[in-house]
Amino acid sequence: MQHILVVGGAGYIGSHMVWLLGQRGIQVTTFDNLSGGHRDAVLHGELVVGDMADRALLDRVLSSRHFDAVMHFASYIQVGESVTDPAKYYLNNVANTIGLLNAMRDHGVARFVFSSTAAVFGEPQYSPIDERHPRQPINPYGRTKWMVEQALADYDRAYGLKSVSLRYFNAAGAHPQGLLGERHEPETHLVPLVLQAAAGRRPHVTVFGRDYDTPDGTCVRDYIHVMDLAQAHWKALDYLARGGSTSAFNLGNGDGYSVQQVVDTAMAVTGRSIAVQEGPRRAGDPARLVADASLARNVLGWEPQYADLTTIVRHAWQWECRHAGGTWA
Ligand code: UFG
Repeated sequence: MQHILVVGGAGYIGSHMVWLLGQRGIQVTTFDNLSGGHRDAVLHGELVVGDMADRALLDRVLSSRHFDAVMHFASYIQVGESVTDPAKYYLNNVANTIGLLNAMRDHGVARFVFSSTAAVFGEPQYSPIDERHPRQPINPYGRTKWMVEQALADYDRAYGLKSVSLRYFNAAGAHPQGLLGERHEPETHLVPLVLQAAAGRRPHVTVFGRDYDTPDGTCVRDYIHVMDLAQAHWKALDYLARGGSTSAFNLGNGDGYSVQQVVDTAMAVTGRSIAVQEGPRRAGDPARLVADASLARNVLGWEPQYADLTTIVRHAWQWECRHAGGTWA
């Protein structure tokens, strides 16, 4: 029976992963400091509450049993905060990740799946973005992820550590049966913000800029369902188990939706009106970020199940209603 260590398994994407591993009959140890995660989001296996910086605890966990692989979801993710407080990002996202890799090397765990991001590409030079697109991140958050990707190539060459870096575009949605969902504090992501406005938990949603060079002037993003992300990780584990080489894959649906289209979809799904306020552009937002994920489809055999935005928003709304204690949509 396989046993996987999921670092950050109590967070938004990690908790969906832990649930999926449970469905697949895999044993799981979640390691999470609960700084952003939630104890009650870990629906399978054991939870060790601890910080990646605690090498002694990592050693205890890694020597307690054999782990087939480590999956790492424990990063800070706010682009703006990474600009104002880069120390926090370099310490956790880079230094503590290197500590985790060193612990894996010392305990003979040779497979690693890493949560990377479209932010490694910086300002797009063409669209859709494939894996060969230049990596020129424009903020500390993106740089931390690109640094780790580069370290992973070196760790493979020197120590034989095999890894897959998955570059998420815009993760959204929730568990299709409503068991799990997005609970960031503070919330900065568009889909939950729009739905909180629909639920009356926020007075309005602010659209960050309407003067972009896009069809309706608002930014275009590639929204990908959190369960499809988890499914891609599952495929990545299988790829590594079959001897796959260290690689990076983009994960998106290849469809771009504007901020306005997200608001319109949310109004259609919820049947509620959503107040929109016009705001200035947010620093560092590219006009359009859309993935070419054909490599993940071809090499990993990944096939997204919930590609359309309406389904993504519907699942997120189910969660929003449950989380807010309201009625089900
Ligand atoms: N937006 C608004 N109003 C809001 C929040 C967001 O108009 O209140 C807009 C943003 O300007 C952007 C789009 O909605 O155009 C999506 O914004 P998110 O904050 O939901 O997501 P981002 O595209 O900024 O960020 C995501 C991930 C990051 C990652 C980045 C990759 O959340 O971790 O993609 O570029 F770095």
